[in-house]
Amino acid sequence: MDQIRIFSPATVANVSCGYDTMAFALDTLGDEMVFRKINEPEVRISKITGADLPFEVDENVAGVVAKAMLADSGASFGIEMEIHKKYKPGSGLGSSAASSAGAAYAVNHFLEGKFSQLEMLRYSMMGEEVACGSPIADNVAGALYGGFILIRSFEPLEVVSIPVPSELFATVIHPQIAVKTEDARNVLPKEIPMKTAIAQWANVGGLISGLFASDYKLIGRSLVDGVAEPYRKQFIPHFDQLVKSAKDSGALGGGISGSGPSVFALSKGETTARQVEAAFDAVYKPSGIDYHIYTSAIGPRGVRIIKD
Ligand code: HSE
Repeated sequence: MDQIRIFSPATVANVSCGYDTMAFALDTLGDEMVFRKINEPEVRISKITGADLPFEVDENVAGVVAKAMLADSGASFGIEMEIHKKYKPGSGLGSSAASSAGAAYAVNHFLEGKFSQLEMLRYSMMGEEVACGSPIADNVAGALYGGFILIRSFEPLEVVSIPVPSELFATVIHPQIAVKTEDARNVLPKEIPMKTAIAQWANVGGLISGLFASDYKLIGRSLVDGVAEPYRKQFIPHFDQLVKSAKDSGALGGGISGSGPSVFALSKGETTARQVEAAFDAVYKPSGIDYHIYTSAIGPRGVRIIKD
């Protein structure tokens, strides 16, 4: 087949304690993209819906990824793509990552699986460099691999898939204000005190142990972030109230999704996750700020082909 339609999941990166090293995919929220093999050896973006993104291939993350993969593989054909965004860029839900990972997956499909998953990840990170100014790996790995991932090492690149307890659900509120990842990274200190580092890696260990052991309470106790949250929450109206109301409604814990402004909470069971949805709603409704709320299981699969 010379045309495929793919779904590329939205992702929650950092998961509080794992700045730049952890992420999970959402099951029900993500972008759709259509890719066509064309005879001319070039990349074309023919349609973009749902967001105001560049059609210029060198300025579009999906375009950059596709162009690099075709060039490096010496392909004799080209790719035409449509990008259908289902949530806004600058959300903290890995919007650029979904496009980059989607392009890497689709181009590799037409290259008949020439590149490994890690190589696809490297190409996707090129898209992140265009979007955020650094080749961030967590969101793209979450979108490509699905489930819950840990970037164990950058050089060499190593991704570990972590099991997800079956009753773990995420609720995410996306205030309709854009926070540029680059800006949210620039406010972070270049160095952190040893005391902060100790607390952070203890929580990373706690979170990973909790996921392996399906110990929901341990997962909740470990969702603490002393590295990025203190500097970033200023960009998110009512952040503390959101997290408090989520916990008061039974959530295990929560924090900033990626670089924000989205805020996530994890719950045991969909019923509690829906209660958190109502709690988020109650905090934001009077604020006058537009918002969307999503409740989803952790998506076990990453980018995939869907019916056209
Ligand atoms: N780990 C990245 C950050 C994710 O927090 O800046 C970007 O959404």
